Amino acid sequence: MDVCDSTQDVAFALALSGASEGVVVVAEELRLGRGRMGRRWVASRGGLWMSIVLRPESFRNMQLLSLASAVAVAKAIRNLLSVDARVKWPNDVLVNDKKVAGILVEGYAKTSYNFVVLGIGVNVNNDLPPDLQNTATTLKSVVGAEVSRKSLLLKILENIDEVYAKLKQGMASDILNEWRKYSSTLGRMVRVVTRDGVLEGFAEDIEDDGALRIRTREGEAIRVYEGDIIHLR
Ligand code: BTN
Repeated sequence: MDVCDSTQDVAFALALSGASEGVVVVAEELRLGRGRMGRRWVASRGGLWMSIVLRPESFRNMQLLSLASAVAVAKAIRNLLSVDARVKWPNDVLVNDKKVAGILVEGYAKTSYNFVVLGIGVNVNNDLPPDLQNTATTLKSVVGAEVSRKSLLLKILENIDEVYAKLKQGMASDILNEWRKYSSTLGRMVRVVTRDGVLEGFAEDIEDDGALRIRTREGEAIRVYEGDIIHLR
C-alpha cells in the first residue's frame, strides 16, 4: 500500500479477520510508525516498512523470535550488499555501529485468537531527519548507491521463513549461535536502560531464552529481558 498509519495495525486487522500466516503488509510511508517501547518510528518514502502475520503454536519464544528476525535481516543485508551488518541486543541491526533496521514483535493472545505481528523497518533509500543522523544510517549512504528494496524484501522474507522454521523445529540454539556470530554487543561494556533503572556491566552472553547476561563490576550476573543498551566501548 502507499501510506498508512502503521503496517502493524493493518496487519493486526487482517489477522483479526482471519488472514493466514505469512501475510505481509508493505507500505511506502507510515504516518505513525511504531517502534519498541512505545516510541515513534520515522518511516518516510524510500525505506522498507513491513509487517508479517505469524500464527505460532506457542508464545513462549517471543524473545527468540525477535532475535531470530534480527539475524534474518542482518544476513539479508550481508548477502545482498556485502556489508558488515551486525545485531545489537535485543533486535536492532547496525552497520558501522549505526542503526539501519529495527524489529517490533507484537503478540496478541486471547481466548478467541492468537497471532503475532512481526514488524520490520529498514532504512534503505530514505532520508533521515537530522536528529537521527548520529545514531542511524541508511543502506544507500553505506553503499553509496540506491539499493533495490524488492531484492531486500525477498531476501528478508526468505530468511525469516528459514529462521521461523528452525524455531518451530526446536532449533533455537542454531539461531542463538548465528546471533552470537553477528553480535556487536557481546564482549563489550554496556549500559542497560530498563523500566526498573540503569545498570552497567560486561555483556557476557545471551541465554537460551534470549535474555542478555550482564556481568557487573561487582561480579554479579544479571539477566536482562527488556530494555535498551548503549555500547560503551
Ligand atoms: C524499533 O527498533 O524500535 C522497532 C522499529 C519497527 C519499525 C517497523 S516499520 C514496519 C512496522 N510498522 C510499524 O509501525 N513499525 C514496524
